[in-house]
Amino acid sequence: MAKRKTTPEFKALAAVVVLAAVALILFIVKTVLVRDNDESVPAALAPTAEDTQQTLGTSDTDDDNNSSAANTFAENSNYDAANLERYEEYQKNNPTCDAKTVVTMVNIGLDREFYTYTQAADLSLGNYIIVNKYNYLSEDYQPDDLVEISDTNSSRGGCKLRSEAAAAFEKLADAARDAGYSLLAYSGFRSYDFQNTIYNNLLKNDTKENVDTYSARPGYSEHQTGLAMDVCSKTEIYTDYEKDEGCGWVHENMHKYGFILRYTEENSSVTGYMAEAWHMRYVGVEAATYIYENNITFEEYYDTVLKGKAE
Ligand code: DAL
Ligand code: ZN
Repeated sequence: MAKRKTTPEFKALAAVVVLAAVALILFIVKTVLVRDNDESVPAALAPTAEDTQQTLGTSDTDDDNNSSAANTFAENSNYDAANLERYEEYQKNNPTCDAKTVVTMVNIGLDREFYTYTQAADLSLGNYIIVNKYNYLSEDYQPDDLVEISDTNSSRGGCKLRSEAAAAFEKLADAARDAGYSLLAYSGFRSYDFQNTIYNNLLKNDTKENVDTYSARPGYSEHQTGLAMDVCSKTEIYTDYEKDEGCGWVHENMHKYGFILRYTEENSSVTGYMAEAWHMRYVGVEAATYIYENNITFEEYYDTVLKGKAE
C-alpha cells in the first residue's frame, strides 16, 4: 500500500486539534476540582433551602437572617427577650419546629433536661399553680384548706383536695353517677414525705429512669398541691381506670367541673410522664374548658394564655 504523504496543512490542522483537546481536558479538570473544593459538606448533609429557611437565626453570614429570626420569635405574644438565645438553639436543634412552638417549648423549659434548672413553684397562682419537672414545692408545703371527699364518692377514707376542688369533685362524681357510672376518689393530696416514700419504694424494684416516667420525685408531684386526684371506680382499680365503662364519659365531661386530664400519651413529651387515665387536675372551669377544647397541656395554657392575661 502506498504511504500517505503528510502535507504542512495537515500538520497544522492536527496541531490545532491536539491543542483544542488539551484545552478541553484542562477545562474539565479545573471545573471538577473547583466544585469538589466547594462541596466541603456531603450533599446528603447539606441543608436544603427549606432547612435554611426554617433554621432561623443560625446564619453567620447575614445579619439580616438573625434579626428576621428574632422578629419571627418576637411576633408571638409569649415571646420573652431573655430567652432569645435559647429559642435560637432550640430552633437549630429542631429545624422543622415553627417559631411559635419554639417559643412556647423553651418558655416551658423543654430545651433543658427534666429536673434541671428547677425553681420554686409560684404559689400565688392558686388553682393555676404549675408543679412539674421544673417547678417544685418545698418539703413543708401543704395547703391549709384541705377537705376530705365524702364516703359516697371515695374508694377509701382520707382522700382530700383543696376546698374548691373538693366541691367540684363531688359534683363531678355525682354527675357521673347520674349518667350511670361510678367515679371514686382514690388518692388526692399527698404530702412531700408520703410522695418521698412512694417514689423511693418504687426505686426498689425499678430503675430511676423508668420510675421517673410514672412517679414524681418528692416535691414535684401535683398531688402535693391538693388539686390533683387519682380516681378509680367500683369495678376498676385506678391503674385500670381506662377500662372502666365510665372513663370515656368522665374524660369528655370533667372540664365542665374544672378538671383536666393531665397526662396523656400525646402530651408525654411535654409532661415527661406516661399516660395516666386516672389522674385529674383541678384548674377551674374556664381553664379546663379551654384546655379541653384546644387539646393543649396545662403548661402550654399557662404560657400562651394565662401569662398574657396576668401581664
Ligand atoms: N403519678 C404522678 C405523675 C405523680 O406521682 O404525681
Ligand atoms: Zn396522680
